[in-house]
Amino acid sequence: MSDALQEMDQPREPESGTASRRKSTPEVTGGQGLSSAQVLASLRGAGEATRLRILALLAETEHNVKDLTQILIQSQPRISRHLKLMAEAGIITRFREGSWVFFRIADTGPEGALARAIVDSLDPSDLTLARDRARAEAVQKARAEAAQDYFKAHAAEWDSIRALHVAESQVEAAMAEALGDGPFELLVDLGTGTGRILELFGPRADKALGFDLNHDMLAYARAKLERVGLTQAQLRHGDLYNIPLPDGTADAVVVHQVLHFLDDPATAVTEAARLVAPGGRLLIVDFAPHELEFLREQSAHRRLGFGRGQLGRMMESAGLKLLSFQDLNPHGDAPSKNGIAEQASSEGKLTVSLWLGQKPDALRKARKRNGKVEVAA
Ligand SMILES: C[S@@+](CC[C@H](N)C(=O)[O-])C[C@H]1O[C@@H](n2cnc3c(N)ncnc32)[C@H](O)[C@@H]1O
Repeated sequence: MSDALQEMDQPREPESGTASRRKSTPEVTGGQGLSSAQVLASLRGAGEATRLRILALLAETEHNVKDLTQILIQSQPRISRHLKLMAEAGIITRFREGSWVFFRIADTGPEGALARAIVDSLDPSDLTLARDRARAEAVQKARAEAAQDYFKAHAAEWDSIRALHVAESQVEAAMAEALGDGPFELLVDLGTGTGRILELFGPRADKALGFDLNHDMLAYARAKLERVGLTQAQLRHGDLYNIPLPDGTADAVVVHQVLHFLDDPATAVTEAARLVAPGGRLLIVDFAPHELEFLREQSAHRRLGFGRGQLGRMMESAGLKLLSFQDLNPHGDAPSKNGIAEQASSEGKLTVSLWLGQKPDALRKARKRNGKVEVAA
């Protein structure tokens, strides 16, 4: 298929075909499957060389149109047209965030299962697909390096940049309450930056580990931890997508103001959740949805915040129960409007949200059910 995939890239069916048919005849079978018309629509959605390549890319991670034009080396109108068809066929989903639109393979329902089965049937060593994957990695690497350059340039003043949002003292008090007093056996801070989270919560843990990719940030964190004499806290150079710790080892994991820099926040949440011990907690703190586009260019932000349900679902898919959610609004306690956080206040501040998840503890549940042992919740 490899080079044929390139050569066969001769669009196309008329735009009206699959998509409008699907829209106008939403035949839904009574059961869990798809009608034959829906299967055909889904297959047509994937049934073209470039679209199949796009589907394979979107099965790996989310991309926007700009990424895909760079990876596939095709014009934006072409890529957009393919994406539209595929979205209307139900095999990919799209979500808007500020002026960017992201796409990913559909991950629910029978169309999602069909899309996944199509991708799974592809030979991963196929030359064209392998080239696409390599280019996707190069695009992501360039972006990650740009972000790391930003952190490198700003490591020294990071603690003051953090004050872009609602008062830091307010965020830290809410985090302290959400996390609880511990004591924790092992607290892990992912994307630890200058180590503020370790400084704050390390004293509640027998051992605290902070991971970060950026050596400059780690150097500041190291100096800070030495200054405050927090001997139980250690720093590690590491990628939060692949933390070298076994499953279920940490009773507290924190990800504070990191996810909006990442290409693939869902995978980061899955990796963070993997580390959480049964009964343990994952606390994620990040911006609520906002529309400050300049933060992408100026401050290497990839995402303009996250909605309550958006991160809540990521946590649940990663096997956690969402215990609590809180919005800290710079204007006071008023909740955000229509899912869009109140825009920056006159001082340019943003709403910060906290998601607290817990890994179910099967043993405790079983004991409770049998009524033999009383365990505090
Ligand atoms: C905005 S800073 C936040 C630091 C810290 N959590 C805080 O609140 O002060 C984001 C940090 O995430 C780190 N980071 C970004 N991508 C990472 C990755 N893939 N793995 C580990 N750290 C990463 C950056 O190097 C940076 O230090």
